Amino acid sequence: MTVAAGARGAAALAAAVLVVAAPATLAGSPWEAGKAAFEANCAVCHQASGAGNAALAPPLLSYPAKYATIPEGRRQLALTVLYGLFGDVVVDGSHYNFKMPSFVQLDDEALAATLNYVVFDLAHAPDSVAPVTATEIRNERVTPKSGAEVRAHRATVLQALGL
Ligand code: HEC
Repeated sequence: MTVAAGARGAAALAAAVLVVAAPATLAGSPWEAGKAAFEANCAVCHQASGAGNAALAPPLLSYPAKYATIPEGRRQLALTVLYGLFGDVVVDGSHYNFKMPSFVQLDDEALAATLNYVVFDLAHAPDSVAPVTATEIRNERVTPKSGAEVRAHRATVLQALGL
């Protein structure tokens, strides 16, 4: 074992001890659970970095942070993960015309955490932006929408944001 590997092992052990001592500090980032959910459910299309894929899905590195600054944009984030998104959309000047699947089967906490990981860790929204809450997700479960309707709502949000 190299010295570096030994140091890494010691650090991992220290982290494990810390977790046992204080479960509340388990997450290195507040969005650690969202990161895991993103990697499990979203990265296959949007890539782990959120950079997207021209043949599959748009990047998530800027628009989600902007959406999170206005109420209708926050609804848009919730609607997109709950009901998917279908049809031609423009992100940063590039067209994407695919179908994002619905993640309505994930619970409110998981979806809120996943969106917060996107908004804060991938799209770098400033701390002044309020995190998405489980309640905001739950509120959008009341009236199910189609992916096309989510796209129509998206157009109004882009207009409001001047995008
Ligand atoms: C099967 C591929 C796929 C998976 C898995 C997927 N997405 Fe998407 N996502 C898309 C596509 C495709 C679009 C654009 C849809 C279109 O062209 O109308 C999109 C759009 C989005 C948008 C809207 C971007 C904008 O600018 O309005 C967000 C936000 C988003 N996805 C988040 C997520 C999150 C969070 C997950 C995981 C819970 C996820 N996606 C999983 C394919 C996927």
